[in-house]
Amino acid sequence: MPAIAAEALAKHFTPEIRAVDGISLSIDEGTIFGFLGANGSGKTTTVRMLTTLMRPTGGHAEVLGFDVVRSPGEVRKRIGVALQEAGLDDIQTGREMLTLQSRLNHLRAADIPDRVNHLLHVVDLDDSADRRVKTYSGGMRRRLDLAAALVHRPKVVFLDEPTTGLDPISRDAIWRYVADLNKNDGVTFFLTTQYLEEADRLAGDVAIMDAGRIVAQGSPSDLKASIGTDVVSLQIEGGADELARAEQAVRRLGGIEDVRIIDDAVIVYVREGSSAIAKLVLLLDEASLRAREVTLKRPTLDDVFLQKTGHHLEAEESASRPPAKPDRGAES
Ligand SMILES: Nc1ncnc2c1ncn2[C@@H]1O[C@H](COP(=O)(O)OP(=O)(O)OP(=O)(O)O)[C@@H](O)[C@H]1O
Ligand SMILES: [Mg+2]
Repeated sequence: MPAIAAEALAKHFTPEIRAVDGISLSIDEGTIFGFLGANGSGKTTTVRMLTTLMRPTGGHAEVLGFDVVRSPGEVRKRIGVALQEAGLDDIQTGREMLTLQSRLNHLRAADIPDRVNHLLHVVDLDDSADRRVKTYSGGMRRRLDLAAALVHRPKVVFLDEPTTGLDPISRDAIWRYVADLNKNDGVTFFLTTQYLEEADRLAGDVAIMDAGRIVAQGSPSDLKASIGTDVVSLQIEGGADELARAEQAVRRLGGIEDVRIIDDAVIVYVREGSSAIAKLVLLLDEASLRAREVTLKRPTLDDVFLQKTGHHLEAEESASRPPAKPDRGAES
């Protein structure tokens, strides 16, 4: 039995706003699943449906064998959730907050202090446990939020962009906690992210979301292998006209897997990229076109993303992006 299964799961807010438009997933117990997508691609909506916070408009989903619509209580008992917009109460201390979470999750009163101490330790907040949350940094808040999702020892934990807006050190720390909990306690993680490196590092399998649909799914290495061995990027001098002509020109090369125009470059997916470069430049030359810059690299998950969606996932400013945006409102 998979830990999480979805079949044609959909959420259409209106006929036009198809936030999630029929996705199917099967996530094995004990794995880390990376759910990748740009802003507005439907990640949070998917998490809300899988965690019983929002009713699907189509399809169905199960968590640990329990239907999210028919048995929401059974699902909730077994899952932990850290939402994108952390609901932390600034007035409380970290310890008070975890204690309250433990009570809400019906832990035995006698067990709560030890459990809280343990969790504070897991996320390195021992020293700040008795400070009010309002004095915490963004990274500390995310760590506390992660700890709060773990109080009742859930088998499946959903983390919605746990590291967005964090500096590399805090991000690394979260990755370590997730990897450790997965390895030592067999916790299954469903983790949404806009960081390809995060998915690449942590996840056994990933799904790439674009406009409410899954456009690619599999292990990062399979996905990278699936797009052909090399990626040659030719930045073309001139404008849209030259780009279009350049695309036509390079298509004459044999053995090409795919060609795309992205921004001011023609991207060529080809085996044996190094030997293809000279031929590609020659083809451009014959068409009286010039490449300002030519680069060759092994595919990354970003190249997979690019090939499937036509745009890059990661903005340059990824690490310095501000944290959570205002909530667009959950369904009640
Ligand atoms: N309550 C709502 N009512 C109407 N539309 C909504 C609602 N919640 C989300 N949407 C829309 O659904 C789409 C998907 O939103 P969602 O929050 O799932 O994206 P996301 O992938 O989590 O994005 P981000 O990376 O910004 O968090 C967006 O177009 C969003 O505007
Ligand atoms: Mg979101």
